[in-house]
Amino acid sequence: AEPLRIALAGLGTVGTGVIRLLETNRDMVERRAGRAIEVVAINARDRSKDRGIDLTPYAWVDDMQAMAERADVDVVVELVGGSDGPALSLARAALDAGKGLVTANKAMVAHHGMELAELAAIKGAPFAFEAAVAGGIPVVKGLREGTAANALTRIYGILNGTCNYILSEMERTGADFDAMLKAAQEQGYAEADPTFDIEGIDAAHKLAILAAIGFGTRIDFAGVRTSGITEVRSTDIAQADALGYVVRLVGVANLDEGDDGTCRLMQRVRPCLVPFRHPLAAVTGPTNAVVAEGDFAGRLLFQGAGAGDRPTASAVVADLIDIARGLAGAPFSVPVAQLETLDPGDPGERVG
Ligand code: NAP
Ligand code: HSE
Repeated sequence: AEPLRIALAGLGTVGTGVIRLLETNRDMVERRAGRAIEVVAINARDRSKDRGIDLTPYAWVDDMQAMAERADVDVVVELVGGSDGPALSLARAALDAGKGLVTANKAMVAHHGMELAELAAIKGAPFAFEAAVAGGIPVVKGLREGTAANALTRIYGILNGTCNYILSEMERTGADFDAMLKAAQEQGYAEADPTFDIEGIDAAHKLAILAAIGFGTRIDFAGVRTSGITEVRSTDIAQADALGYVVRLVGVANLDEGDDGTCRLMQRVRPCLVPFRHPLAAVTGPTNAVVAEGDFAGRLLFQGAGAGDRPTASAVVADLIDIARGLAGAPFSVPVAQLETLDPGDPGERVG
């Protein structure tokens, strides 16, 4: 069979992870994809940067946007980041040209995912973003397909590896916030602008995407009430511990049925006190965990590495394998409803 030819934009933590995975697991990926996955073009900002891998086998193109126009490209893999700017221009150009689009960019999906999905549907082009939520955990597919027969009542969990690493390391070692943020950045967990992590914005991006998929609604990122972990001190963690709790940044989305029978979506991200006995309390380091409650499936827990080069590359390449096999379906649950957002007001602080 003809290879699936991909253009890779962005050669940072995730982009280099994808190249490593495709090289390391080449034969297995080819068997599972039913054909080879070939990187025919690469681009990043600085061509001269040492990225710790040999890029000489790959064709560098100077103009990232031109990748979308190339006749020899089937799928554009966007690993640049940023909700707008070059990432969004590339994504739109790729779909507009009828190319597939795979991205790990939750900021872009949270802000423009519906528009991109509509463009993809018009052009008949695959659009996939498993890596955008919870790194290596197949939670997008898990919610969209695995729980498709359920009415979900609540989705919640730990959605930011950087914050979870910081909080659980502060808890374990008593280290201070700034030192742990620096360590998370060095290990490639943090966003280019770590404010997105520590202010809860990255978790809000992911929660909005999961809520849309799980509840079959349009993405409503603006409707997520968000607060981050910058105010959490080691003393707060120690006091919580004395009372039988750990502190975790938790995102919660649920449907609220009003007296008139209409359903509204509630979404919030904030530091929470989690009792020791709760499964989220045992989630440490850059791990993510998502709980989904379905009327027939019951309580499901998706857990695993939520950030880093290897887990994220795993999700990107899984999307490419689906596309290679013609298995990539609609990126969001269908049909998509438009729900009103209910401001959660001043939510409680405990997860029980
Ligand atoms: P990163 O290490 O900062 O890499 C970003 C890459 O994009 C770099 O290679 C950079 O080029 C390139 N780039 C940035 N601006 C560009 C521009 N204007 N033109 C051309 N290239 C440009 O970021 P990352 O951690 O790999 O993240 C990539 C995406 O994956 C983001 O959307 C992020 O949110 C998402 N993600 C990351 C993780 C993670 O654990 N890191 C997990 C899940 C999802 P240079 O290298 O030349 O500067
Ligand atoms: N910065 C993100 C995190 C990367 O720490 O969870 C994974 O999406």
